Amino acid sequence: MGGFQLLVFAVVATIVWSAAGEPEAFHVDGAPPSKIAVVGAGIGGSATAHFLRQHFGPEVQVDVFEKGEVGGRLATVTVSNNDYESGGSIIHSLNLHMQEFVKQLGLKHRRTVAGKTAVYNGEEVILEETDWYLLDLFRLWWRYGISFIRLQMWVEEIMEKFMRIYKYQAHGYAFSSVEELLDSLGGSGFINMTRRPLSDSLLELGVSQRFIDEVIAPVMRVNYGQNVSIPAFVGAVSLAGAQNNLWSVEGGNKLVCSGLLKMANANLLKAEVRSISPISSGEALQYQLNFTTATGTGSELYDIVVLATPLQDGVGPGLQFQGFTPPSKQMPGDYHSTVATIVHGYLNTSIFGYPDPRLFPFASVLTTETPGLFFNSVASVCPVNISAGFRRKQPQEAGIYKVFSSQPLEKSQLKTLFRSYYSVQVTEWQAYPDYGSSQGLPPVELHPNLYYLNGIEWAGSAMEMSSVAAKNIALLAYHRWNKQTDMVDQSDLMHRIKTEL
Ligand SMILES: *[C@@H]1O[C@H](CO)[C@@H](O)[C@H](O)[C@H]1NC(C)=O
Ligand SMILES: *[C@@H]1O[C@H](CO)[C@@H](O)[C@H](O)[C@H]1NC(C)=O
Ligand SMILES: *[C@@H]1O[C@H](CO)[C@@H](O)[C@H](O)[C@H]1NC(C)=O
Ligand SMILES: *[C@@H]1O[C@H](CO)[C@@H](O)[C@H](O)[C@H]1NC(C)=O
Ligand SMILES: *[C@@H]1O[C@H](CO)[C@@H](O)[C@H](O)[C@H]1NC(C)=O
Repeated sequence: MGGFQLLVFAVVATIVWSAAGEPEAFHVDGAPPSKIAVVGAGIGGSATAHFLRQHFGPEVQVDVFEKGEVGGRLATVTVSNNDYESGGSIIHSLNLHMQEFVKQLGLKHRRTVAGKTAVYNGEEVILEETDWYLLDLFRLWWRYGISFIRLQMWVEEIMEKFMRIYKYQAHGYAFSSVEELLDSLGGSGFINMTRRPLSDSLLELGVSQRFIDEVIAPVMRVNYGQNVSIPAFVGAVSLAGAQNNLWSVEGGNKLVCSGLLKMANANLLKAEVRSISPISSGEALQYQLNFTTATGTGSELYDIVVLATPLQDGVGPGLQFQGFTPPSKQMPGDYHSTVATIVHGYLNTSIFGYPDPRLFPFASVLTTETPGLFFNSVASVCPVNISAGFRRKQPQEAGIYKVFSSQPLEKSQLKTLFRSYYSVQVTEWQAYPDYGSSQGLPPVELHPNLYYLNGIEWAGSAMEMSSVAAKNIALLAYHRWNKQTDMVDQSDLMHRIKTEL
């Protein structure tokens, strides 16, 4: 996106410290843990393994359980010998943990290939990017008046507060819940933003209904497959991403996950964890994980366990909690299913009012909330490895397109959207929370030394949110293990950090 981007550059200059920090030399009394398990090797689990290693040192055994592919929702599909992102695809330049991972792993930013975006309302293109950025700004001004500036300032203010987390984490501070974390960044205002609809917050700011319908709704549809009733905090996080400082990883974003596991020297177990039960012997509490592999079953004891996979019914691993009181740790709510269809074919540009494909100037089309419209977005996509000579295919050529929809596309729908096609690959994701399906944020601490990462997704679902949660859980696990209560849920951190320096 270019023309209706929301620019957030003011904060860049104020953030100069490194996100990852050095391993802290905290005082340690008592024996260190000998074995830690992480369940799930998506970005959250891989980052957790990395940060656990950083904080607990080289001796502890870190086992990572993954029943599917490393990378989780960061995945690729192959079309004609090239790989394409089918899941989480974009990273924001202010996502400091992700930036740091890529740097430490020696990975590269993928080259971006310019392309214009349009918004389609089911009948016609109602908003389009032009070649000239200033012209877009003037058009936005003309069409939406003050909305654009108000929104920009709102997002900027939220981002600036959110970025305090890197400072707190670099100083070793942890939070025992998502609420505590949000409260320390943005006070009760942030917590309230996880509970009220985005549209209410925007209308209150004075953003026009038209701007919400024509710009905000399409961005929410492509990012979360949902409408502007999603919580304001989630919405703000994704609006910060709706600007041009976006990047992805050369070779595929999932390389970050495999790289982090390797760097953490973690043992990757291709196994599905079936049950977890607390085992007490004297003073010590451990957890028994029972799991199945391709060849049989296994059982191991751990001092600390991090669950880095959604615990909603039917989404996560179907993990049984045995011997806990209260018995179940299943989380309320559902995940939203979004279908990513990768099509190799000829786009039917007639739909968008361009019978001659050579005149179709767009690389991606977002859509407004339109009853009966069967797709959320369609975009020409580039492979994960972009060679120097790469150019985007013209609309009159056969190209690779990614379509997001809430239901699998029917053959007739594919035949409407594409004049013809060579191949179709469908990935059905339980992509992000269904934000209408639950109130409240899930807990982080489920039981002593048993942590849950994915609750953060209910505040915002993005690679960086999971990375922030991973760092928080590694710090929290470390402080809990060493009984350092003065590093958890501290108030007035901005002030403390100033006086510590
Ligand atoms: C958040 O909501 C609570 C309860 O409704 C209210 O007391 C508080 O003032 C709100 N905070 C902000 C910053 O709006
Ligand atoms: C958004 O979607 C939810 C659930 O699908 C629905 O209940 C709500 O009415 C919709 N809101 C708007 C503003 O369309
Ligand atoms: C794609 O990029 C990754 C990361 O830079 C590299 O390891 C891999 O060899 C590349 N693959 C091809 C086919 O160029
Ligand atoms: C886990 O496996 C162990 C050893 O096979 C067994 O004794 C125990 O009952 C199992 N626990 C659960 C909850 O299935
Ligand atoms: C393309 O879209 C137009 C307009 O919606 C439609 O009439 C036509 O059947 C579609 N398919 C092809 C192959 O042109």
